[in-house]
Amino acid sequence: MKTAKFKNPRASHGFQGRTCSIAAVGSCVPERRLTNADLEKSVDTSDEWIVTRTGIRERRIAGPQEYTSDLAAKAAATALQRAGVTADQIDLIIVATITPDMGFPATACLVQQKIGAKRAAAFDLEAACSGFIYALEVGQQFIMSCTYNTVLVIGAEKLSSIVNWQDRNTCVLFGDGAGAAVLQHRPSAHGLLTVCMGADGGKASLISMPGGGSLHPASMQTVVSGMHFLRMEGKEVFKSAVTAMCTAAEEALRRCEIDVSQIKCIIPHQANRRIIDAVADRLGAKPEQVFLNLEKYGNTSAASVAIALDEAVQLGRIQRGDLVLLMAFGAGLTWGAAVIEW
Ligand code: ACO
Repeated sequence: MKTAKFKNPRASHGFQGRTCSIAAVGSCVPERRLTNADLEKSVDTSDEWIVTRTGIRERRIAGPQEYTSDLAAKAAATALQRAGVTADQIDLIIVATITPDMGFPATACLVQQKIGAKRAAAFDLEAACSGFIYALEVGQQFIMSCTYNTVLVIGAEKLSSIVNWQDRNTCVLFGDGAGAAVLQHRPSAHGLLTVCMGADGGKASLISMPGGGSLHPASMQTVVSGMHFLRMEGKEVFKSAVTAMCTAAEEALRRCEIDVSQIKCIIPHQANRRIIDAVADRLGAKPEQVFLNLEKYGNTSAASVAIALDEAVQLGRIQRGDLVLLMAFGAGLTWGAAVIEW
């Protein structure tokens, strides 16, 4: 491994010198585009309001017979093919999602069947928009401990299935999609250097879908009162998002003893252009370091960072050896930041 201009906080953690790298990424978005002009026809909103307040111009919407597990399986197939990994080599599948195909079984099990990964263990992880970063951290533990050799981490959502299309406060923000990463030990790289995660359950009510769980089991009443739709207090979420993502990112950079100027590409959760600009500004990052694709897809929650990471790699914005900063924020509240030597 070449001499690094950063500290690897995990250098002494890896059992038998193990590191955990992202061997390849892949993503999938549905074909159907829903533009701001389309939304103007169904709710009292405007392209001007949506673009200036969020930066979003369109989002992708899955078809009626296209489910979270389908998007996840397609993203996974691309990542596996790029990594040169066959389905029977996968030891574990983790799917981060807040829109599983159903309450149970886990969407990860449905993906396991769809991609033919018969040997793999499979489970879901729920940390909303921070889900992909949380799942990377969980997955890397299995690689670093030599428990598994190949872990497939997926962020996938069909948010259109829980959005209230009559509520202009939320329906303009979200879209569907999936992104996947293949985790393996790669002797020539440090890979995932550090992941900082956090949560504040005291703010759980700021973003939620209250119906359908043990607190409010599905009933006529929960349906009538819209409890199976996503609810959000946007302004409060906005404030917490900026503070939490900055704190997590600063801690991740500090642990690696690097300055933000050493980061080649910052991949933020694609929720709102104004949140991203505020965080980049507070971190002292230059606009050209920050990767944005929210104008095409909106907020795809757990899929957001994964899709953006894949696009940045395919566009050549990230090369092997570059330092990459991922950061996200979402319901829970949860947040996370990761530094990777790509
Ligand atoms: N079109 C037109 N007007 C609208 C729309 C719309 N689509 N939505 C809201 N408005 C109105 C409101 O009704 C309000 O009107 P009023 O002043 O007459 O009451 C006005 O616009 C301002 O509303 P605010 O909520 O103050 O607007 P704000 O500037 O805060 O932007 C937004 C709202 C975009 C939701 C922003 O707060 C935001 O992005 N918050 C963070 C969301 C986020 O990051 N979520 C991440 C997690 S999601 C998850 O975990 C699943």
